[in-house]
Amino acid sequence: MSKKLLIQQGKLINPANKTAGIFDILIQDNKIKEISNFIEPNETFEIIDARNKIVVPGFIDLHCHLREPGQEFKETVATGTMAAAAGGFTTVCAMPNTFPTIDSKPILESLTNLSKATGVIRVLPIAAATIKSEGKTLTEMFELVDAGAIGFSDDGKPIYDPFIMRQALNFSAQLKVPIINHCEVLELSKNGVMNESWVSTQLGLPGIPNSAEESMVSRDILLSKLTGGHIHIAHVSTSGSVNLIRQAKKEGVNITCEVTPHHLTLTDRIILNKDVSNQDFVISNDSYDTRAKVNPPLRTSSDVESLIEALNDGTIDMIATDHAPHSDVDKICTFSEAAFGISNIETAFSSIYQLVLNNQISLTKLIESLTIGPAKILGPQYGNLDQGNLADITIIDLNEQWKVNPAEFLSKGKNSPIDGSILTSKVVKTIYQGKIVI
Ligand code: DOR
Repeated sequence: MSKKLLIQQGKLINPANKTAGIFDILIQDNKIKEISNFIEPNETFEIIDARNKIVVPGFIDLHCHLREPGQEFKETVATGTMAAAAGGFTTVCAMPNTFPTIDSKPILESLTNLSKATGVIRVLPIAAATIKSEGKTLTEMFELVDAGAIGFSDDGKPIYDPFIMRQALNFSAQLKVPIINHCEVLELSKNGVMNESWVSTQLGLPGIPNSAEESMVSRDILLSKLTGGHIHIAHVSTSGSVNLIRQAKKEGVNITCEVTPHHLTLTDRIILNKDVSNQDFVISNDSYDTRAKVNPPLRTSSDVESLIEALNDGTIDMIATDHAPHSDVDKICTFSEAAFGISNIETAFSSIYQLVLNNQISLTKLIESLTIGPAKILGPQYGNLDQGNLADITIIDLNEQWKVNPAEFLSKGKNSPIDGSILTSKVVKTIYQGKIVI
């Protein structure tokens, strides 16, 4: 019989069954054997003292980039999953924009095998919606779901042709998996490198208007209505998008959506001046930080307010990181040349916890958005610390303060625009299937 692990006296917050209180949790093999007020320890138990810490279901990330196969200089399944575990995640869904693209059963199966061999947590694959994500021919969706794909996306790019999207959503209705779209009308975002606003004007950078996202969100809502397929809007970033999604949900459209930590906490002002409280409209030494270049771009404070409101009222279903690690070569260059993307899986929880400290969202909402929110898509077996379930558990010290230092990230991607920030709250242990990985 394997050794038992006893987590003592932590504050368990399990939104799936609305539990919140001080409990002992006993883990045997890979499952939760018992949860009760007090469990008598014995000398064979490995003990974790969780007093003054919160104990929550291991987080789930519906959207991250692990870069393997093909761009191992940016990230690998091994480094990406270690970084995810450091951020408190026990399940991540990997986007298919790799080289080769995850667009066929053999390629998807090789990612699954690689994940089992080198990943320290669970990796669930998202398959490409179209061959090579070129937007022309749908992938073999039935075969890919059979091989384990949890959804389809051409992320990094939109599924552009409305007829292809209609067909993808038709299959989604039959397969009961989402089509995850990166909504961007390229004729509107053309050459844009940041949000279109007075900041882009000030910096002389071409902008991406909100309507580039919103017009495709509208199209996708209409196509979901037409087909009954499940549309999942990736990384929503604008007020207009959440208004459209809120209305669509009221009308019963089969739609879900996610928001990223950076769109919830940062604005485009950071590209002008890292100290966003500085109201000077002047270009400074820290302007044009390519680490803040991301697609969709960081928007304005009124968009951020709308995103927070939409998270609170349930319009936004979950927080997903869109962890996008890049190498120095991709980021140490001009703003226009730099790659889009932020490495954030290790800072995700703590960066959003600032919103809890500011009373903008509740702690329960934050935990829900990282557990039962994404479990709406993956299934109720995930994100729930019930007796008998797999022991995927995260322990967090809400009082610990730490300084973000990308050089210490386990991710190969050091591209964090919050480098140097002081964050409150730290993941102290991540347990995956009963094993301590962090
Ligand atoms: O900023 C982004 N980076 N947005 C995306 O949609 C793709 C991602 C990447 O793959 O680097």
